[in-house]
Amino acid sequence: MQIHWREEMAIDGGLIDGDHKHLISIMNEFCAASPTEDSRDRLLGILDRLNVYTTIHFRREEQLQRAVHYPYIDAHHHEHGDLLRELYSIHEGLAGPVAAPPAEDAAADDDGPTPAPPPPMAEAGSIVEAHRTVAEFLHHWLIDHIIKSDLRMKPFAKRMAPLSQGMQPLKQMRAWVD
Ligand SMILES: [Fe+2]
Repeated sequence: MQIHWREEMAIDGGLIDGDHKHLISIMNEFCAASPTEDSRDRLLGILDRLNVYTTIHFRREEQLQRAVHYPYIDAHHHEHGDLLRELYSIHEGLAGPVAAPPAEDAAADDDGPTPAPPPPMAEAGSIVEAHRTVAEFLHHWLIDHIIKSDLRMKPFAKRMAPLSQGMQPLKQMRAWVD
């Protein structure tokens, strides 16, 4: 299940679209990976990478929203927090509890609505089923929430553009998880 970038996903023709394309490429990498027991660590590594780059993206998206006084910023901030908690939960479901979520994450506070429960994980050992479940969840997570919700920013994109020019595109970054 690969996601292909489409023009109707475009928000600013610049930094935000580039970020979303990069997140899509990581999600596609997860979906294309062979789900074998030997590849479990690799799958978890891809989810780690998705988490790091998503956190960076959410933070600067909110930075841009604050700068242009985006009217839905509070709701968007809470949605970002929920999405990061959901991503943490699916990582935990695939791996078991291996690490605490970031304690000082500006995009994930405790005062937002309760996030949706993580998808049910397959029985231990059924890596094929777990991979399929996570891939389907990520598809919904990325397209239905991240991109569709962000489309409301489109009328503000022109004002955001000069502010985003000094930000480095995600695909040019090298996070510690790469
Ligand atoms: Fe976004």
